[in-house]
Amino acid sequence: MSQKIFEQMAARLEEIKAYEINNTIELEAFRLAYLGSKNQIKPLMEEIKNVAPEMRREFGQQINLLKNTAEEKWQQYKTNLSTTASERSVVPDLSLPVNENYHGSRHPSAIIMNQIIRIFSRLGFTISKGPEIEDDWHNFTALNFPKDHPARDMQDTYFLSEDIALRTHTSSVQVRVMESQKPPIRTISPGRVYRNETISARSHCQFHQVEGLYVDEGVSFADLKQTLDYFAKEMFGVDTRIRLRPSYFPFTEISAEVDITCFVCNAKGCNICKHSGWVEILGCGMVDPNVLQNCGIDSEKYTGFAFGMGVERIAMLKYRINDIRLFFENDIRFLRQFSEAW
Ligand code: PHE
Repeated sequence: MSQKIFEQMAARLEEIKAYEINNTIELEAFRLAYLGSKNQIKPLMEEIKNVAPEMRREFGQQINLLKNTAEEKWQQYKTNLSTTASERSVVPDLSLPVNENYHGSRHPSAIIMNQIIRIFSRLGFTISKGPEIEDDWHNFTALNFPKDHPARDMQDTYFLSEDIALRTHTSSVQVRVMESQKPPIRTISPGRVYRNETISARSHCQFHQVEGLYVDEGVSFADLKQTLDYFAKEMFGVDTRIRLRPSYFPFTEISAEVDITCFVCNAKGCNICKHSGWVEILGCGMVDPNVLQNCGIDSEKYTGFAFGMGVERIAMLKYRINDIRLFFENDIRFLRQFSEAW
């Protein structure tokens, strides 16, 4: 008979040791089972009357072992669980550094576009916007690109129909402005443009431009140079100088390409300027009288200048980005690098 009781006690002991306690509810269940007023050790204690006298001492020791094991386990889990709970309710340490929390930032194209806009706003240029889906007249014909003229190939075009295309430059917006406003006109047209180009590190099928137009009586090439010189100094630093090289655009006569002194090496020669000391930043010229006439502006009375630049190209120079595709991939590792810029 005694033997059976000892076996039961041994089984209880194993049970107590193996009892799983993961939270305060399980802890309370454990307490009720082994330490409460109706605990499972009590009925065993009552068996003392069936234990042979010479075994009672050992029986007592076994009962104590059960009680103590249960008590210790309960104490231990009680402290552990309550420490965790109280830790949770502790007032946070306000001196700890904050978690790095990324709130998003402006896109590098937007940052540079805004900088360009701000500079020309200070010179009194207004902002004009127009559609990205454009007709042949506004994108080409009014700008002196005759039908079937090879100059149309300068800008590989996405045609949506014979007469409608995605605009290849924002000069189309300037046509719309000249058609609807009387000089003096002083405006810039920032926006997205599309070209049917093979996508590579250096060219993309979409990018952004800011183009400028100034039409009034007596606007001269000297005005154009002065405006661009101011822009270059504001954008790239006061020591920047510009140089104009003859070029060709159907809508300007005369036309020029503008270089600035390389701001990376101070015109000494580096990888960015291909060791020439100069980097190209935009195209410009005097508005061709044909274009003024096409838009209903008297070319005998008025003259104008125009210029146009690629925003990503300038961003690539300023931030030393070597692949234009990065602008359009939305890779957070790239975009995050501009969170400090504005
Ligand atoms: N529209 C030209 C382009 O997209 C840029 C330009 C604008 C050149 C105005 C001269 C004058 O390449």
